[in-house]
Amino acid sequence: MRGPGPRTLTGAARLAGVIGWPVAHSRSPSLHGFWLAEHGIDGAYVPLPVRPEDFAAAMAALPRLGFRGANVTVPHKEAALAACARLSDEARRIGAVNTLVADETGALEGRNTDGFGFIENLKAGARGWTAADGPAVVLGAGGAARAVVVALLEAGAPQIRLLNRGRDRADRLAADLGDRRVAVSDWARRADLLAEAVLLVNTTSLGMKGQPPLELDLARLPGAALVNDIVYVPLETPLLAAARARGHRVVDGLGMLLHQARPGFAAWFGVMPQVTPALRAHVLATL
Ligand code: ATR
Repeated sequence: MRGPGPRTLTGAARLAGVIGWPVAHSRSPSLHGFWLAEHGIDGAYVPLPVRPEDFAAAMAALPRLGFRGANVTVPHKEAALAACARLSDEARRIGAVNTLVADETGALEGRNTDGFGFIENLKAGARGWTAADGPAVVLGAGGAARAVVVALLEAGAPQIRLLNRGRDRADRLAADLGDRRVAVSDWARRADLLAEAVLLVNTTSLGMKGQPPLELDLARLPGAALVNDIVYVPLETPLLAAARARGHRVVDGLGMLLHQARPGFAAWFGVMPQVTPALRAHVLATL
């Protein structure tokens, strides 16, 4: 997969990459490679396969090897939190780091751009939508849910109804965040809690290729509500198909992946890139 136009590197090329284990499935090299080509930047973004036991040493080595930073993916997002010299407020609140940015001295700041990606995806996909419009229902309480809930709180959501199959995990997330706007309910009540919601977000793995679909009766969801799935394989999950059939506005999960990458690219390569139909098509072709 390539972006537009040929590219060559000089000895002064800027370096970044993605640290994961395994990392071969990551779409980030293709995504950042597209933007590097689009902007004609003398830079490279490479996969960095790093075992968990080597993570701390690899992180310390990054700036010494001249890297301006990196993305961090599974299973290192929590380990990165502990190993950074500094943390952004969002990374601290979410409890995970997905973006490392080196300063002039080589010290690494840990950031989390998943919440930014989530909100930007909704704004781009549903014109006029704002989190302040009313209650949101968030399904799931894993790492992705943490980023989504923090982002919705930041964006002014008046109430977040949080439901997870294992309720204790949702209770823990709500307790960690310590915000009264987060209201935990039982998973079995999910259909009832859709009443008056302006946003429904699935952050569970249900509906993903190879996983069972999300069982949810949408009858009580107000017609004006927006429905978002952070699953993007398939792009149209059974939840999104059902919501679309009922006339809801829907936003798929691919945009969150694309938008979360923008702040890292800007920090390492000096240009804030955009999410365009051409980029979407380029990344879709790799799914
Ligand atoms: P991520 O970091 O992507 O959020 P995760 O931490 O593994 O991934 O979280 C997966 C989410 O999907 C959890 O909310 C999980 O619910 P539990 O905490 O109860 O495990 C949810 N999930 C996975 N399989 C599920 C299923 N069959 N039914 C309901 N929820 C499920």
